[in-house]
Amino acid sequence: MLASDTSVTIYYGPLSWFEEELGDQDCDYLLDIVGERDEARRRIHHVVDGREQGEPEEPFLPPERLVAVSSDYASVQEHAITNFTGLIRDIDPGHLLLHNPPAHIHAQLDRVFTTKVERFSYPTVSRDTLVKFRDGFAAHLVGQNSVRERMLAALYPLTTKRRSTPVVLMFYGPSGVGKTETAQFVNGLLGGELLRKQFSMFHSDKFASYLFGGTHTEASFARDLLDRSSGVILIDEFDKANTVFHSAFYEVFDAGVFEDKNYRVQLGPALIICTSNYGSEEDIRHALGDALYSRFDALIPFEPLSKGEIKEVINRIVDSRVQKLEPDELASIDPESIKELLRERASGNGNVRKLGKLIDEVISINLVRALLAK
Ligand SMILES: Nc1ncnc2c1ncn2[C@@H]1O[C@H](COP(=O)(O)OP(=O)(O)OP(=O)(O)O)[C@@H](O)[C@H]1O
Ligand SMILES: [Mg+2]
Repeated sequence: MLASDTSVTIYYGPLSWFEEELGDQDCDYLLDIVGERDEARRRIHHVVDGREQGEPEEPFLPPERLVAVSSDYASVQEHAITNFTGLIRDIDPGHLLLHNPPAHIHAQLDRVFTTKVERFSYPTVSRDTLVKFRDGFAAHLVGQNSVRERMLAALYPLTTKRRSTPVVLMFYGPSGVGKTETAQFVNGLLGGELLRKQFSMFHSDKFASYLFGGTHTEASFARDLLDRSSGVILIDEFDKANTVFHSAFYEVFDAGVFEDKNYRVQLGPALIICTSNYGSEEDIRHALGDALYSRFDALIPFEPLSKGEIKEVINRIVDSRVQKLEPDELASIDPESIKELLRERASGNGNVRKLGKLIDEVISINLVRALLAK
């Protein structure tokens, strides 16, 4: 193949960052150019058929900067992806800037052009993050003190330069006691929009192509990983994924590399948090098998809330709901008696999500009674 003087830069990271990198210089988009050319080809075809007379076509000028973003590859036809370099040589841009392209496009370009790679630097855990985690934990979560300590120890390796692979954690315990909330709290400290995948949302056939890669037009975990801006990767409800999918996680948990049919992602020292409702380490080991179980850096149990903690949660939730009421609404209810009533009704229910709904309902009942009694 002949070398071309097109220079190629490949960017791996979130779209917002890529757009910043592009700056405000003019650029052409691959999809528009491909569309224009397809259209022109159709017109020529008609003229040749003699059914329509068109103006003579103007030759295309090579664009100076040609851009494609992560979601564009799905709109390009498969043959253009298979012979991507052919397409690019045909268009002959001065500079090609690609955002999160599939791995085989990257490989093809490497063979023909001089390519440069830019990677987004993801937020990392620092001493400051640990301090904020330690000091802010109690404001987010009632109880779970051992989670706080275990998390600090688990996060520590990410503060060192030695660490080049992800820290992978399994949060387990009953529903509604703060697992997802803790993951969101850490992510909030690091910044970036949390990449959160709920594995219960996928049906088996869709899930296989999501994890292992399907056609390049289908959603994929690898592409979501590439597009993410967060330092935390949250895999919610890990226990709901069928065991046939477990092997997909070996390499990413071990080495921080995730590969599917179309994409390759290097995660580096990221934080991967999986959540589940397993009851004990033994349950986890049994359900996931030794190979996967042993790949977690730490398994962190979340405890059911004690009576005292439930009381504290009720106080916090009622206070925060009451703060949002209008003055006339506030005048018609007594928060203290609502708290009292809830304490009786909520005994034994340590699911804070359910507790929140119960509190909303009790407040609404009181408000509506007051309204109708007027
Ligand atoms: N210990 C806690 N203290 C204060 N609020 C809590 C606590 N645990 C949970 N919550 C609140 O309850 C709601 C549900 O919590 P969360 O989503 O973290 O539950 P979870 O443990 O992930 O449950 P599941 O296993 O069902 O996913 C959130 O709004 C969260 O803020
Ligand atoms: Mg959860």
